[in-house]
Amino acid sequence: MLLEPIQSTNDDFGAVLTGLDLRQPPAAETFDFIADALARYAVVGIRHQPLEDDQQIDLAERFGPVHQSILDESRRRLKDRRFNDVGNLDVAGNLKSADTKGYGDANLLWHTDLSFLARPARVTLLSARVLPPQPPATEYADMRAAWDALPTTRQAELESLQVEHSVLVQRAKCGFSNFTDEERQKAPPVVHPLVRRHPVTGRRSLYLSSSASHIVGRPLEEGRALLEELTAFATQPRFMLAYQWQPFDLLLWDGSCTMHRATPFESTEHRRELRWTAVVEAA
Ligand code: OGA
Ligand code: MN
Repeated sequence: MLLEPIQSTNDDFGAVLTGLDLRQPPAAETFDFIADALARYAVVGIRHQPLEDDQQIDLAERFGPVHQSILDESRRRLKDRRFNDVGNLDVAGNLKSADTKGYGDANLLWHTDLSFLARPARVTLLSARVLPPQPPATEYADMRAAWDALPTTRQAELESLQVEHSVLVQRAKCGFSNFTDEERQKAPPVVHPLVRRHPVTGRRSLYLSSSASHIVGRPLEEGRALLEELTAFATQPRFMLAYQWQPFDLLLWDGSCTMHRATPFESTEHRRELRWTAVVEAA
């Protein structure tokens, strides 16, 4: 196995791992090596892992409990609730037309996976099954580095703030409001601290996402403005990583200390098909 940082500046953000085959369940030492790499680098791409669905789930379960989608089956191409369908296919498996504004467009906004749930994603596993000839990058922001870069006086002001998150707020930001009553009921707002401490490394980071609505106990507009300001700060190029996909990459990221977003890709010719699984935080 070879583990190499992706960037020369901020070289503890993003790494690529080669020389292993996860179609066989990894030995404990190999799994620990991957988990340690993820704790340190926050985004780890494992090259050439042409996984079957079961193999992806088995690996995800080594990290913890796997999230199940609440979306109605009629909205999902992949009927197994443990997978989300990332890419440019519609429910029937055809290429989405460029003008359909869909649920998945929210991926273009800076976000953290499942940040609108009480137990958000701790680890996401995204498996590239079909990539177009020039795959769009997925961009990441290092929320640890962003925290570290704030002046201490600012850190002290932010340290104890609590943020309300809602999936309805998130999807409204990209023009989707077509939730059923049942889906709305299953999605009450949740509160997360603005600043988190990483369970393994102890490093602190900002916790933000497009689902962030306002600051608890502050006027709505004031809270929104602060969240926007911090998001703009944390997503400056100096804290960013653009992950360049290769065929059959398995990309893992730590949702507790990163944000990410898709970059635009519209094609009437080429399929982009990735399988998403998320491991949620321990209860
Ligand atoms: C995700 C996501 C970005 C992309 O899979 O959680 O936000 O580039 N994807 O598809
Ligand atoms: Mn995402």
